[in-house]
Amino acid sequence: MARKLAAGNWKMNGTGDSLMELEALATGDLPQGVEVLICPPAPLISRAAEIAGGIRIGGQDCHAEASGAHTGDTSAMMLKDAGASYVILGHSERRSDHGESDEVVRAKTEAAYAADLIAVVCVGETLEDREAGSTLQVVCMQLAGSLPDSVTADNTVVAYEPVWAIGTGKVPTLEQIAEVHAALRDALTQRYGDAGDNIPLLYGGSVKPGNAADIFATANVDGALVGGASLKSADFGPIIAAL
Ligand code: G3H
Repeated sequence: MARKLAAGNWKMNGTGDSLMELEALATGDLPQGVEVLICPPAPLISRAAEIAGGIRIGGQDCHAEASGAHTGDTSAMMLKDAGASYVILGHSERRSDHGESDEVVRAKTEAAYAADLIAVVCVGETLEDREAGSTLQVVCMQLAGSLPDSVTADNTVVAYEPVWAIGTGKVPTLEQIAEVHAALRDALTQRYGDAGDNIPLLYGGSVKPGNAADIFATANVDGALVGGASLKSADFGPIIAAL
């Protein structure tokens, strides 16, 4: 895994036709030393993997168990078998839509490791948390509870996504991003030593071609987890290039 990562989360958007956006990226020029990841909806993963070229493919969630009576769910091994090498876990939309706790996210992260998937574990504060001055406390608690002890620099990416910045066009100041990323880096290094120093830290929340370069120039930002602007190659391409 490269330290620099541009990750696109298509969320519940796209059908087979949307794969032409992935194809456009895959057949274009990708910068050296930057890992590009696209996480399409689960039904598109196999087809995406077939045309991805040098782009990695990931899932958007997995179940904590390897198999069983869990209608509608997808296991980490199924994602791997379909061609994924990453999985996003603990996204705020999973935490709010499906009531996922830190404990659930940690169990899913362990399932991802067991299937040889890299986990992109998300943390982030709500607007209420930020206004209450508890941002650092909230994200560090989420981080501590969502990550297992078996984290390495090769099996985990952490994404900081302020909930209030997702899909809103609102972005924290660069100082606010730097403050949270420094706190996450400290927490990772304290718990995991050298590995914690080398875990890629992504920022996510309204990243666009126009703000990506400034965000990437911020201390301890190793890339981005991009939602809306990853759906079109004309938007995601310049974001990748800015990294
Ligand atoms: O996973 C991606 C994030 O939720 C960011 O989404 O770029 O549409 O704000 P956004």
